[in-house]
Amino acid sequence: MTYFDQVSEASAFLKTKLGPLTPEIGIVLGSGLGAVADAIANPTIVPCAEIPHFPPSTVEGHSGRIVAGRIGGVPVVVMQGRVHFYEGYSPQQVTFPMRVLGALGLRAVVLTNAAGGIAEGYRIGQLVALADHINLMGFNPLVGPNEPRFAVRPNAGLRFFDMTEAYSKRLRSLAQQAATAEGFRLEEGVYLAVSGPSFETPAEIRAFRTLGATLVGMSTVPETIVARHMGIEVLGISCVTNLASGLGAKQLSHEEVFAAGRQVEHQLLRLFNRLFPKMAALLEPEP
Ligand code: HPA
Repeated sequence: MTYFDQVSEASAFLKTKLGPLTPEIGIVLGSGLGAVADAIANPTIVPCAEIPHFPPSTVEGHSGRIVAGRIGGVPVVVMQGRVHFYEGYSPQQVTFPMRVLGALGLRAVVLTNAAGGIAEGYRIGQLVALADHINLMGFNPLVGPNEPRFAVRPNAGLRFFDMTEAYSKRLRSLAQQAATAEGFRLEEGVYLAVSGPSFETPAEIRAFRTLGATLVGMSTVPETIVARHMGIEVLGISCVTNLASGLGAKQLSHEEVFAAGRQVEHQLLRLFNRLFPKMAALLEPEP
């Protein structure tokens, strides 16, 4: 069975579980940000382990389930607990959930993550909208034969495609308006992805700052790449869970990262409640 067939089978399975709900927005939740899914009323919950071909998650704090329902009245599908390259999964496995969600016909996906803050002035617990990324993970998930059937929009599924607006400008601007209405500022940042699992050295962080990064993390970029390949608009949101290596007084730990996520997840939910109706209106297909 080909990878495309596996994705199709998983997506068809998920569709039957969702019943009449047709999600418009997909959400991937990062470390410590799981409460967003828990806040969905009358959710449909599908453990990832039940979905054919789905890679099981191994990292602590990621429960590995798909939750569907409504946020701000908009039908959404949430991936709670992503899988990471550092767990030993292949680039194809890492992006399998994104492919499956995308195959449901989503117009947009919100990719969230926990990140180390590199820019001066970032506070722990701050949300930052991604304006761009730098891929230093050491791979691109699209290496291999191109599969045009992954396209969910016209002019997608191409071998070579543009990444000048990997993170949708119009979605970012809507998110900033929603944040302002909620009484906080949503800054913009550049996310640099590494494979992990070790945190960075202070010299690496100095180098990354010189390269133009303001955030560092171990996820999101592979998902952004395949989402753009499918023709899905991406909104990226980082939660600054710690100051990057060498910038804070403390040593970095997963517990710290996780705890900071817990502090901000309710703010993220308020943002989504306000943002999603606006996003759904914007994403409305042209007649
Ligand atoms: N580095 C890499 N990944 C991370 C960090 C960090 O400091 N914080 C949360 N995820």
